[in-house]
Amino acid sequence: MTISKAIYKRGKTAGVFPSLSTRRDEAYMSFIEDARNLLLHAQQKPIGEYSRLLLQNAGKSMEPDPRSTTEAKELLMKDNVLKTYYRVKRTLQESFWECTLNSLNMRKNDLLRALDDAEKIGPGSVTYDPDFSIPEYATAEIHIQPGGNANEPLSGLLYDYGAKVFMGGAADNDMFANMQANTVSAPKNGKVGRILDLGCSAGVTTTALKRIYPDAEIWGIDVSSHMVRYAHLRALEQNLEINFKQMLAEELEFDDNCFDIVVANLLFHEVPVSISKKIIKETLRVLRPGGSFTLFDFPGDKTGDVYTMFFGEMDAIDNSEPFIPGFVRSNVEELMEKGGFKMDKYDPDKFILAGRVGFKPIN
Ligand SMILES: C[S@@+](CC[C@H](N)C(=O)[O-])C[C@H]1O[C@@H](n2cnc3c(N)ncnc32)[C@H](O)[C@@H]1O
Repeated sequence: MTISKAIYKRGKTAGVFPSLSTRRDEAYMSFIEDARNLLLHAQQKPIGEYSRLLLQNAGKSMEPDPRSTTEAKELLMKDNVLKTYYRVKRTLQESFWECTLNSLNMRKNDLLRALDDAEKIGPGSVTYDPDFSIPEYATAEIHIQPGGNANEPLSGLLYDYGAKVFMGGAADNDMFANMQANTVSAPKNGKVGRILDLGCSAGVTTTALKRIYPDAEIWGIDVSSHMVRYAHLRALEQNLEINFKQMLAEELEFDDNCFDIVVANLLFHEVPVSISKKIIKETLRVLRPGGSFTLFDFPGDKTGDVYTMFFGEMDAIDNSEPFIPGFVRSNVEELMEKGGFKMDKYDPDKFILAGRVGFKPIN
């Protein structure tokens, strides 16, 4: 069986995702995606208004500080509507992982063999080390994804399909990644020969960058070998030449001053703040003077109230995002500036997800 036939045996869902092993699983996942859109995404605004009203009527502080957040949580989680909302959120997510993993496991050997075979061919390359030491923080089962990113051999496929459902259609045909990549800042002199994507997962932003800069040498790195293996296969399927490597963003195995652009899409909220500081330092080191760093992630608490903080804390539990509360409080713009970047003025309207842009000073 060719690589493509093994992975895309049942075709592609929404243009790019390897379809699951049975039609029943595909239908079930489509149901979960619709249910999430209807019960969660469409209700986010009214649920927010309802929660704020409950807090205001109870005379609670709306300040986004830790004490007010704890008090808000105590009050809001006594409310039956909200209890149900968060229960539904958690259960739908548990259900989609269970279905996706069981479905992929039905043809696990074929899928793993296809990933092995893909390693041997190009365009592009994938490199990893079976003895790589994964830091403890990177073994968390973020998003309650079974096995997490690093400990489940099918995590690349699992994450990719899970992200499709989680994002309720926004990731279909790589739409979201393409939009994000189009807002990545280039260095001011426009010279782009090498690009690095930190925490690349399935490589969707990496491939989108290659489409925008077809002549650039592009690298995607991730702590998980399973992720870079799948990212390589996904890029192969699109005939895109990209180098994927298992690597820690805080210990980059690249020379000083060798990249024009570095991107981190949704990496920073998944690491402790102490690691964020190291990643910023390493990014500055590998960028050439004038090179740009675009960091996409959630907005910080400067833009939110106590409900925003409560929502983040609930996400930390229900979506298993242990590092989100630390991230939103950390003020990543300030960390980048203190780390030596010359920051662009933050423009919340320019990006889909908050984008912070810094340049390596020329002198
Ligand atoms: C939310 S995903 C990133 C999504 C991806 N950038 C995209 O555009 O679709 C976070 C990724 O960061 C990786 N990661 C976490 N800590 C890391 C680290 N210290 N160095 C490199 N990758 C890391 C995880 O394995 C995971 O694949």
